[in-house]
Amino acid sequence: MSAGEILAVRQIEKRYGGVRALKGVSFGIRAGEVHALVGENGAGKSTLTKILGGSVKADAGEFILDGQSSHYGGLDAAKAFGIETVQQELELALPLSAAENIFLGILPSRRGFVRRRECVARAGEILRSLGASFDPAALVRDLTVPDRQVVEIARALARKSRILLLDEPTAALSQFETARLLDRVRSLCGQDVGIVYISHRLDEVIDIADRVSVLRDGQNVGEFRRGELCRATLAEAILGKELEAVSYEKKRRAGAPAVVVQRLNVGSAVADLSFEAEQCAVVGFFGLLGAGQSTIAAALFGDARNAGAERSRILVHDGLPRSPSDAVSWGLGYVPADRRHDGLALSLSIRENLMLASTRSVTRLGFVQRSRSRRRALEFSRRYDIRMRDVEQPARELSGGNQQKIVLARWASVGSSILLLDEPTRGVDVGAKAEIYRELREFARRGGTALVFSSDAEEIATVCDRAYVLQRGRLAAELEGADMTTDQLLAAALQ
Ligand SMILES: Nc1ncnc2c1ncn2[C@@H]1O[C@H](COP(=O)(O)OP(=O)(O)OP(=O)(O)O)[C@@H](O)[C@H]1O
Ligand SMILES: [Mg+2]
Repeated sequence: MSAGEILAVRQIEKRYGGVRALKGVSFGIRAGEVHALVGENGAGKSTLTKILGGSVKADAGEFILDGQSSHYGGLDAAKAFGIETVQQELELALPLSAAENIFLGILPSRRGFVRRRECVARAGEILRSLGASFDPAALVRDLTVPDRQVVEIARALARKSRILLLDEPTAALSQFETARLLDRVRSLCGQDVGIVYISHRLDEVIDIADRVSVLRDGQNVGEFRRGELCRATLAEAILGKELEAVSYEKKRRAGAPAVVVQRLNVGSAVADLSFEAEQCAVVGFFGLLGAGQSTIAAALFGDARNAGAERSRILVHDGLPRSPSDAVSWGLGYVPADRRHDGLALSLSIRENLMLASTRSVTRLGFVQRSRSRRRALEFSRRYDIRMRDVEQPARELSGGNQQKIVLARWASVGSSILLLDEPTRGVDVGAKAEIYRELREFARRGGTALVFSSDAEEIATVCDRAYVLQRGRLAAELEGADMTTDQLLAAALQ
């Protein structure tokens, strides 16, 4: 055990059925450090944090708490030691208020009565110190995804932890907000708290981590200190091989317009927005979270509640689709941001999920031909490098990034002419990201129109031909060519 580690594990083993998720992994956390944990989708990061946080039991291995070997395990032991986790997938109680979620199980009470007003006031203090401005009495179900993540973090902070495990908690937040958020976590928790931080955004990791550990295929493959890393070294450690540099030829507007929208208004979220997207192009919509990207994507995919435009044309159709089934029959495909709720049927198999949108092409006399759909599913999972045991495995068992690849593969497979992609690589590892970008460019090269809605400036700069920059639902700038750098995009979104 190295000096100053409050918690360490050695030689941890964990199996799920036939899958060896962790093969003798060691990991430790010092007081006051940010220790980043990185690796491909399915490398074992979430499994390790679940074992550290007590929600999953290791099959074998040693725990060392404050320098003492220990029979540690279980949620209660983790809580008693002061370990709090913010999971990759949100786990809040939707019908309860933000304040109730924050103090769930530790509600301030007097003689058995919960002191509701005190609870709201204290929740408000924590939320404000994290930079949030919404009402702590608001129901979580009414909050946006980024606001919900702030509630999750506030929940962990309210519990006076010594160690905070953050499993991609900021996957939904923009790069700019993450650094600020971690600063605030530091100042709230005190200097002694150890933070374990999982992220696929390598620039961000290099920026904020004191130490970086890399897992590959359930094993430790590297540990680096601050200052020892550049993006290319880190990507190589993660993938076990060099990451091919990706750069695509960007085009000025070339093809015929496939989407023309004039003065789109959606409730109070999007105001008077006009834009176009042409064939053979990848067009970006960039903004910080909540700037309106998701609302525009949903409106184009037939969520017409409160949506109206002065004039719009999508391929040969006038107006906006009135429902998702309209949208599909017009040739649109949609990859939503919240893949676990909108994008995937978790209890169905990988094969069934891949085939959901394209059942027609594998149906003969009304029967889905199992062997044929199996063959196609295998083809897609190879093409997108979906890491799994078998195509008959339930989608629930896949790692987060692999689930995202299924949603994308599904729409690309049905022959949509226009793809709407909301945060398409959220939670996806650096290798798979490159693969998804390649697929998007290939889709455009074959004549397709891709609209990428993202709060990741690096993503927009890498994959898009040009981009609209949004600020609170309004157009702030249009960038293309050499002007469309990460810095320019962020500057335009923040000005
Ligand atoms: N409940 C489960 N049942 C079966 N297999 C599982 C289960 N949970 C995880 N696995 C498997 O264990 C391995 C490690 O998964 P884990 O979720 O820890 O990966 P990860 O590094 O967090 O990936 P990601 O970056 O995609 O979140 C994967 O092969 C995954 O499919
Ligand atoms: Mg994970």
